[in-house]
Amino acid sequence: MSLNRNLQQAKSQKNDDFYTQLPDIENELKHYRQHFAGKVVYCNCDDPKISNFYKYFSLNFEALGLRKLITTCYKNQYMDLFSDHTSEKAIWLECNQGTCENGAYVPADPVVRHLGGDGDFRSPECVELLKRADIVVTNPPFSLFREYVAQLVQYGKKFLIIGNKNAITYKEVFPLIKDNRMWVGHTPMGKDLLFDLPEGIARELKATKKEGSSYRIIDGVVKGRSQSIWFTNLDHRKRHEDLILYKRYSPEEYLTYDNYDAINVDKTAEIPMDWDGAMGVPITFLDKHNPEQFEVLGFSSLWDDGFKSHTFYDDYTEMRPDGTKTGLSGQKANGYPILRGRPRKGNYLIRGEEVVYTLYRRIFIRRKGLSNTQ
Ligand SMILES: C[S@@+](CC[C@H](N)C(=O)[O-])C[C@H]1O[C@@H](n2cnc3c(N)ncnc32)[C@H](O)[C@@H]1O
Repeated sequence: MSLNRNLQQAKSQKNDDFYTQLPDIENELKHYRQHFAGKVVYCNCDDPKISNFYKYFSLNFEALGLRKLITTCYKNQYMDLFSDHTSEKAIWLECNQGTCENGAYVPADPVVRHLGGDGDFRSPECVELLKRADIVVTNPPFSLFREYVAQLVQYGKKFLIIGNKNAITYKEVFPLIKDNRMWVGHTPMGKDLLFDLPEGIARELKATKKEGSSYRIIDGVVKGRSQSIWFTNLDHRKRHEDLILYKRYSPEEYLTYDNYDAINVDKTAEIPMDWDGAMGVPITFLDKHNPEQFEVLGFSSLWDDGFKSHTFYDDYTEMRPDGTKTGLSGQKANGYPILRGRPRKGNYLIRGEEVVYTLYRRIFIRRKGLSNTQ
């Protein structure tokens, strides 16, 4: 493995130790109460002693009307917190419905067992627990997000999980979003989610990173920052709210891409109300996506999702704004949305008289029916 990939892997594994704060869980979960009555919830990346997911569901067990809460913990990283200091085994904890005594609800004592293996969510014993669950709710390890989602899909589970915003652009994840098998949760994508950190990681971030990028200090406590959002396949109200459109299409304002049969829309709020063809919108559009109003057609990438780039730029030369060559070809622009002309700032590509430039990745969408006023 190259040094770069090693560093990348180390970085994403460090994010595996970001712990979700209770207020963030409460703020998201309050939009799904109707889904939980009579259900088995499984938190499969959660040490019950420190997980706020476990805390949330155990405290709200009765209020949500849960049937069962299962929590499994990967190894036992905090032995002094959980075990009798002699066990290195992973924990499986189960909460069941309590009883009603003299009109008062008496919660049942949680049942604690040791797992045979290390509690890996992919291990056969955890998969058996997964099969028993109706809804999986957690913040899984960032570095295993693709596999994690694939497993949920394989077993047909309902889920509400936290992942990196970039996961939207994964080849394994985007098709689920496109097909309405997974969507963004209720918390706005722009919300800065902060995470509790093990002491060592907090110390390291403080020593090596700038405040505001990878961490923030809140009331003297170092909190981890990562571009995290909620992903789910549980319905929520926001997904059915129409985006109010107010702008009208003009060819000058909404340029057509050089390489995709779609117009470019720089801001979701500026989607033209009178354009019924394909358009490229920023990824944050997903925050406003209402599947009754819009259809997702594809993503600006080289994988084939049915909405393909028809032009490639290998024989273009990349230029700096001052007109000097960077020494690179236009190959790296392939799949990105490309507009003709010179950008206001940044590099561009030329081939003879032809000049084009690259935009950020876009999601291609089209309006459905005419649910907006024209
Ligand atoms: C991002 S942290 C979140 C922890 C907790 N779910 C929360 O939200 O506070 C991911 C957790 O997954 C655990 N983990 C790492 N690899 C795992 C695996 N293969 N199977 C299950 N859990 C794993 C880590 O130990 C870590 O506790």
